[in-house]
Amino acid sequence: MTESPLALPVVDAELEQRLVERLARIEEQLAEHCRGRTPYVTRAASHLMEAGGRRFRPLLVLLAAEAGPHPDAPEVDTAACVVELTHVASLYHDDVMDEAVMRRGADTANARWDNHVAILTGDFLFGRSSELTADLGPDAVRIQARTFSRLVEGQILETVDPGPGEDRLSHYLEVVAGKTGSLIATSARYGAMFSGASPEVVEALRAYGELVGSAFQLSDDILDIAAESADSGKTPGTDLREGVPTLPVLMAQASTDPADARLLELLGQPLSDDALRAEALDLLRRHPAMQQARDYVVGQATQAKKHLEVLDPGPVRTALEAFADVVATRSS
Ligand code: FPP
Ligand code: MG
Repeated sequence: MTESPLALPVVDAELEQRLVERLARIEEQLAEHCRGRTPYVTRAASHLMEAGGRRFRPLLVLLAAEAGPHPDAPEVDTAACVVELTHVASLYHDDVMDEAVMRRGADTANARWDNHVAILTGDFLFGRSSELTADLGPDAVRIQARTFSRLVEGQILETVDPGPGEDRLSHYLEVVAGKTGSLIATSARYGAMFSGASPEVVEALRAYGELVGSAFQLSDDILDIAAESADSGKTPGTDLREGVPTLPVLMAQASTDPADARLLELLGQPLSDDALRAEALDLLRRHPAMQQARDYVVGQATQAKKHLEVLDPGPVRTALEAFADVVATRSS
């Protein structure tokens, strides 16, 4: 199989060509939606969009739309813009919360300008996304509003400890499903919905998207430990610095091996000290919890793919299966 210009391998050349051309048009529309009334706002709002990103969410909208009778419906393109604008808006806010300095290999908006600009630019992009959602009708507005409250609630839950008696892994999985599963589920749902797929297919793709979305975030969290910044375009160890326990950390913390004593001591606190964080990263990268976490994510992707059984076998189902696999095993 030759390397695909898309973020996933598509075995069917005709489908691949269609997706590539359509994503190129969506890219132009996204640039247009980042335009404000003044050059300053346009510059701030275009900053992260222009820095790149794999456009996983728009691609999923387009792929899911292939499962319906009218994949070319213009609402599908609008929905693809809606989900990417919402996602990028949330990243502006996330980078403020994480005090991150690098994303997509570029300065974050908070580093390039300041927190105020970053937050307001996120709001601006969220406003643009809401304007477009209004064009999609009241059902889409309701779905978008629900998605957005789940996304924000997931992000809020990440900042608090599990409730009394609540399992730490369940708490973390709820955070992940909220902050990332929700929008990826909506991407797949919108695609199927606006291409006129049956309610059964729309629901199956929503459920598939929810699991793929969680797998995406779990992989991202593994990469926060495993990836070098040259590959991820972000600063590794951000979750450790913020003291956010993620899947590999929770799995390592279950260890009773005395050889892990130093790692467990380091993991019990936010690691703002560079040397301590580097030590924890090094120990974690070599810990069996990394493989255990990867296996867990592959299990999620397998669950996700089961929902695709409502679709006829063929290039679209194969591409959606590949999408789940790529998300679960990505290395950047
Ligand atoms: C990335 O997580 C962040 C998210 C998936 C969602 C963040 C959502 C908010 C901050 C609320 C947004 C609110 C508005 C009004 C737009 P991460 O830090 O684990 O991933 P990263 O490694 O890409 O930073
Ligand atoms: Mg972050």
